[in-house]
Amino acid sequence: MTEPLIQLDEVRKTYRVGSESVHALDGVSLSVAPNEYVAVMGPSGSGKSTLMNILGCLDRPTSGDYRFGGRSVARMGGAALARVRNRRIGFVFQSFELLPRLSALENVCLPLLYAPQAGWGQRRRARGVLERVGLGDRMRHRPNQLSGGQKQRVAIARALVTEPSLLLADEPTGNLDSRTSEDILALFDQLHRDGQTIILVTHENDVARHTRRVVRLHDGRIASDLPVGRDVAGEGRP
Ligand SMILES: Nc1ncnc2c1ncn2[C@@H]1O[C@H](COP(=O)(O)OP(=O)(O)O)[C@@H](O)[C@H]1O
Ligand SMILES: [Mg+2]
Repeated sequence: MTEPLIQLDEVRKTYRVGSESVHALDGVSLSVAPNEYVAVMGPSGSGKSTLMNILGCLDRPTSGDYRFGGRSVARMGGAALARVRNRRIGFVFQSFELLPRLSALENVCLPLLYAPQAGWGQRRRARGVLERVGLGDRMRHRPNQLSGGQKQRVAIARALVTEPSLLLADEPTGNLDSRTSEDILALFDQLHRDGQTIILVTHENDVARHTRRVVRLHDGRIASDLPVGRDVAGEGRP
């Protein structure tokens, strides 16, 4: 058995709003091995973003344990947590979150500001990932000079530039038309074939169908966790 990359054990996340408690995650146990490609699905409010924030070390569980690469994240201090977040996890968001005044190349270089060594090696690395996502000829363009699909490719390059162990994507095709979505999903498929571990949130079966495993949340709990073929694959494409 491969050592899991991610291991959640009875993770709870409770938000206090006034005198009320919201149990956003209510005892989630989940194990993800290296090179898995997982879709997290579920209705609005079921805890998907809360789960992604915890997996991405942007937030901590209220209780329960989270182990990333065998180390307990729940007990890490702030600096150690930030190191894991900055170096071992890449994020892709629905709204791209690129800095508008920076070129594609400069946007991709941003995560390397946290890296110990600076300089030309970083630019070379950023150029390499931009070429890998098919944007070798757009490095000097600013976000407003790029299409939606190209912006998301820049965001994916930025997420990959630190060579993260885990790629997290929250509705990565939510702002793209269906043709462009398929291009982006083809890129994720390629990354998966190259060995990247990917967890993405989606509410679309057509997106989930690209993954290998579908975890469905309901009211902060895992309602089902199935190989993709036993979840969404039975339905035909429109
Ligand atoms: N910062 C917060 N403060 C209070 N409640 C929150 C906060 N974030 C999320 N929630 C609540 O937690 C539950 C899960 O939210 P979320 O993880 O965003 O769900 P999803 O992404 O599946 O729509 C919801 O009931 C939401 O209202
Ligand atoms: Mg959400």
